[in-house]
Amino acid sequence: MEKKKITVIGSINMDLVTKVSRVPLVGETVIGESFYTAPGGKGANQAVAAARLGAQVSMIGCVGGDTFGRELISNLESELIDTSKVEVVSGSSTGIASITVSGGDNSIIVTPGANNLVTPEFILRHEKAISESDIIILQLEIPLETVKLAASIAKKHGVKVILNPAPFQVLPEQLLNDVDYLTPNEHEQKQLLLSLNSEQKEEILKKCIVTQGPKGVAIYKDGVGEIPGYRVEAIDTTGAGDTFNGALAFALSEGMELKEACQFANAAAALSVTKPGAQGGMPTRDEVKALIK
Ligand code: RIB
Repeated sequence: MEKKKITVIGSINMDLVTKVSRVPLVGETVIGESFYTAPGGKGANQAVAAARLGAQVSMIGCVGGDTFGRELISNLESELIDTSKVEVVSGSSTGIASITVSGGDNSIIVTPGANNLVTPEFILRHEKAISESDIIILQLEIPLETVKLAASIAKKHGVKVILNPAPFQVLPEQLLNDVDYLTPNEHEQKQLLLSLNSEQKEEILKKCIVTQGPKGVAIYKDGVGEIPGYRVEAIDTTGAGDTFNGALAFALSEGMELKEACQFANAAAALSVTKPGAQGGMPTRDEVKALIK
C-alpha cells in the first residue's frame, strides 16, 4: 500500500537547553547543571515524530544561512524527511529556542528568526505540495496569516488539517472553520475558550483533542471522551505535545479510528518524555506498539 503523505508547515529551531535545579526568580542568577544544543521547533519536531513512526513526511519552512540552519536540515534529512521545500535564507538567522529544564518541566523563549519568513507568498509557491498531501500539520511559530492561508488551501483541496495552537494566539474565525483537528494542551484550551463567544465555543470544542500531560487526553471531537495517561518517569517534557501531533497524523494516515489514533499518539507522547531533548525520546512504531500492549 502506498504511504499517505503528511506535510508539516512550521518552525525549525535550534534548542539551546540549560538544565537547572530551579528556575531563577526575576533579577536572580542561578548556576546551571548542564547545557546542550538539540534540533527543535514545533514544526520540525512534529515532522520528526511522524517520520520516525514510518510516515512519508515533507517539511515546509525556512532556516537562516548559518551553521544551525545547515545542521537542522541535515537532521531532518537523517530522519528521511523531504526537505526540498525548506528554504535557506541567507542574511537571516535560524530560529532558536532558549529552554530551561528543571525537575522534568520546561520553560521556553522562542526567537523566530527565519521562521518569520514563512510568509503567505512563500506558502502560495507550495500550493501543489499541500494539495497532494493527505494531512497537513500546522502550529503557531510562523506568521498567523501563513497558517490561515495554508489551512484554507488544504481545505480547498480536501486535505485534512491538524492545528496545534501553540504557542497560543487568538485564532481568526476562518482558520477555526478550516481546521479539522485542534490539539491544544489544557492551558491553551483555556485561552482558546476565553477567546470565543458561546456559540463558537460549542462548535470549536467539537474539533478539540486536549492533551493533558500525565492525565492523558480529552477527546471532545466526535464525543469520544477521555483516555488515561501513562505512568512514566519524565526526564524532559519538551516536545511531548509535538510527539502527540506527529503521531496523531501518522495514526490517522494509517486509517486508525479517532480513539485508537489518540491512544497511539498518547503512548508515543508518554515515551517521548523519558529521554532528554525534544526529539531525543520520540519513539518508533514498534516502541509505541510495545507500550500499548
Ligand atoms: O514544543 C517544543 C518546542 O518548542 C521546542 O523544540 C522549541 O524549539 C519550541 O519551539
